Amino acid sequence: MYYPDELVEEVREKNDIVDVISGYVRLKKQGSNYFGLCPFHNEKSPSFSVSQSKQMFHCFGCGAGGNVFTFVMQYENYTFPEAVANLAERAGVALPEVSYDEEARKKENRRARILELNKAAAKFYYFMLRSPQGAGGMEYLKNRALSDETMNRFGLGCSSRYSDELLKYLRKQGYSDELMREAGLVNYDEKNGLYDKFWNRVMFPIQDINHRVIGFGGRVMGDGKPKYLNSPETVVFDKSRNLYGLNHARTSRKNHMILCEGYMDVIAMHQAGFTEAVASLGTAFTSGQASLLKRYAKEVLLTYDSDEAGTKAALRAIPIIKEAGLTARVIHLEPYKDPDEFIKNMGAEAFQKRIEEAENSFFFEIRVLQKNYRMDDPASQTEFYRAIAEKLCGFQEELERENYLAAVAREFMIQPEQLRKMVISYAARMGGIPETVRPKPTADRKKAQEDAGRTSQKLLLTWLVDEPEIYPIVRKYVTPQDFTVELYQKTAERLFADMDRGSPNPAAIISMFTEEEEQREVAGLFNTKLNELSDNSEKERALQDIIYRVKQAGYEYYNERTGTDADAIAEALERKRALEELRKVHISLKPGSE
Ligand code: CTP
Ligand code: MN
Repeated sequence: MYYPDELVEEVREKNDIVDVISGYVRLKKQGSNYFGLCPFHNEKSPSFSVSQSKQMFHCFGCGAGGNVFTFVMQYENYTFPEAVANLAERAGVALPEVSYDEEARKKENRRARILELNKAAAKFYYFMLRSPQGAGGMEYLKNRALSDETMNRFGLGCSSRYSDELLKYLRKQGYSDELMREAGLVNYDEKNGLYDKFWNRVMFPIQDINHRVIGFGGRVMGDGKPKYLNSPETVVFDKSRNLYGLNHARTSRKNHMILCEGYMDVIAMHQAGFTEAVASLGTAFTSGQASLLKRYAKEVLLTYDSDEAGTKAALRAIPIIKEAGLTARVIHLEPYKDPDEFIKNMGAEAFQKRIEEAENSFFFEIRVLQKNYRMDDPASQTEFYRAIAEKLCGFQEELERENYLAAVAREFMIQPEQLRKMVISYAARMGGIPETVRPKPTADRKKAQEDAGRTSQKLLLTWLVDEPEIYPIVRKYVTPQDFTVELYQKTAERLFADMDRGSPNPAAIISMFTEEEEQREVAGLFNTKLNELSDNSEKERALQDIIYRVKQAGYEYYNERTGTDADAIAEALERKRALEELRKVHISLKPGSE
């Protein structure tokens, strides 16, 4: 944590969540809460709610939620310290200089210096392109149909014809040679000494989501080799965790992102209005990039080059996208090579149409697969069907697998019964028969049980926040150690401690966590849907039930995990005893009847 807790809390208290969110979203009061259209997903009727009393927001549509820090983190893409700093400024709270230990400060300084250096280099390239010396670069980019506005938006530039001009310029600005080398802007060899890495190229600054320049790509103006040169990885440039264009694409607020191969493709697409386009950084698409995209979209549309290399890259990207929990579709560009050329020749409307016609990634995979087989040879054809069956086994869920099976059978005119037999026989050979044939009830039942346990834990936490009066009763039976998920346990610990002091403060609990994802989850703990309970006896029963289930889940969870030494056994027995005890008690909500 960067700032002291009390200060974070002061900043939070001085920024009323309704005030802050009203600056971004039109809110209307409805009952005790405010409602509006959720800024984090597309919707037509408002399911985004803000509670003034709880100082939290929650979207019933997409599950977004948190306190005022979470909101600006998510909306502005701030890190937690950035959110605190911005809201502090808004409320006029003075923050101390961020305190790091010596090691961390050095590292942070190094990062900051390199970012500063990159910015200076980007400026140098930028002005060079717009100066007489940059006429060649300017002509090249104009020939590629880029407008001035687009060039400015992406901060395009060009490097000098001489191979030491940047080096000299940066030295004059007071930067050390060592830092320039560390930033990958200059190289060194015995023969030439120090020289600029990029010269005589048009320059594409690569920015992170906060628009900071973290590296560069440079393209030759013509046919020379290598076509593109990229900055090496540095302390600020992690190629597997950034995407070109994401700083603009992240606010496009579409349900999908378009993933393409090249810088020029991204720029051409943005210029044509497809501001949801991003590209990886001259390297293969990674799972880190997939989870980055997942923050902004549910679906990824691939528009890789239509040649063999592009197809291969798409085939590698698809499973990575799916593993991240996103769906993938493939945009076809034929007869053009890449989106840049497609748009130049066919225009934005035609591209939009291709987006709508994008192919389901499974079918894309199957069609590529088909190229390896000869459909006029029965043996080869059978092999192809077997390969389809094998791929179908990749769908864990029976319904989904069946849907795909039916669709593939239709598309390739295979008897569905035949295909199903092949699926079963393949699965049998692999020793892993899918649930269609042999369901695995134990694993499923266990998972369902665990989920039910968690739901009870969430319900209990929400109930406590909504009606702190029940705390003394809950406290008698439940301890924070009964919670089976670390995040729930931490939350419960703090909530119980607050309640012991008589002042529950759920919004403050959220700021204990600095990651957006965690904050969202904690907020979710306080925003579970509770049933309306009409009378006291119904409530008493419900509470008893929830408490029992929380205790039970805790018992089962720990019973499975603890060892067999005497202490562990004693602990397990104690939990078991408490659980049985609980069956007998009658919980009463009437004051004084304890
Ligand atoms: N690339 C690279 N080094 C190369 C060639 C390509 O790093 N020698 C990376 C670049 O990030 C480039 C991407 O791969 O943007 C896609 O390559 P390619 O399809 O050749 O680039 P285009 O964007 O089509 O380039 P252009 O249209 O400028 O020819
Ligand atoms: Mn191209």
